[in-house]
Amino acid sequence: MTEKITILNQKGGCGKTTTAVNLAAALAKLGKTVLVIDMDPQGNATTSLGFEKNELENTIYDLLTGKCSLIDSVRETSTPNLYALPSNISLSGAEIELSKEIGYPYILNEKFEDSEILFDYILIDAPPSLGILTLNALVLSDSVIIPIQSEYYALEGMLDLLQTINLVESRLKSSCPIKGILLTLYDARTRLAKEVSFSIKDFFKDEEYIFKTKIPRNVKLAEAPSHGQPCITYAPDCPGSKAYMDLAKELIKLDGE
Ligand SMILES: Nc1ncnc2c1ncn2[C@@H]1O[C@H](COP(=O)(O)OP(=O)(O)O)[C@@H](O)[C@H]1O
Ligand SMILES: [Mg+2]
Repeated sequence: MTEKITILNQKGGCGKTTTAVNLAAALAKLGKTVLVIDMDPQGNATTSLGFEKNELENTIYDLLTGKCSLIDSVRETSTPNLYALPSNISLSGAEIELSKEIGYPYILNEKFEDSEILFDYILIDAPPSLGILTLNALVLSDSVIIPIQSEYYALEGMLDLLQTINLVESRLKSSCPIKGILLTLYDARTRLAKEVSFSIKDFFKDEEYIFKTKIPRNVKLAEAPSHGQPCITYAPDCPGSKAYMDLAKELIKLDGE
């Protein structure tokens, strides 16, 4: 069975892409076969995985609009076991094009039905909005991981996000639970980070799982994309990579293995 997870938060800069790429690379390092789907027209996950986004053919846009097949759009990365379904700015036009199609929230899901490509995990890097692309990601997914940056406005927009998940569950598919809340850009030395951590616990009131692993602020995580590699391979021993390896192990354990 493939476990499909959207990395979701409409807030920009909270670590979605960094999490999608490095959690995927960590799972791959642990022997899982993993696909990263870049659902953001900014294509940051695509660049982080070593692709020159503006020169790509057969991107997620071409797949969603029926111009290529799933097999044509999935490609290997330089990390063993790790595959990518890339994106670029052409995807920004897709929202309007797709909205004209009947059943537009289901298009991505249909592409994976009867697919013979088998992955242990599919991680979807969602765009910073709650529009059609995000709906497509959620319909395909079994669950979501919500990265939350440890900053003062961390929970702003969280009700809209939860409402979107509820809407998907009530109107489009039966269930898309929150797999876990992930604290990112965490600096354990600051009082603010601890306060935010408490307010997140208070907000979710034990209803949602909060990952024990917190992702520290670590400059290597920010440097790795410019080398076209996940930090997991670029700097495997840095605190950021170690945290994402811990997160991957925690996730596998949650999945009961
Ligand atoms: N834990 C971290 N430590 C240091 N820099 C980080 C960390 N997580 C993300 N960043 C950097 O912060 C910026 C925003 O992160 P990103 O993953 O692109 O967020 P999003 O996809 O939610 O917009 C990027 O420049 C990224 O390299
Ligand atoms: Mg991003």
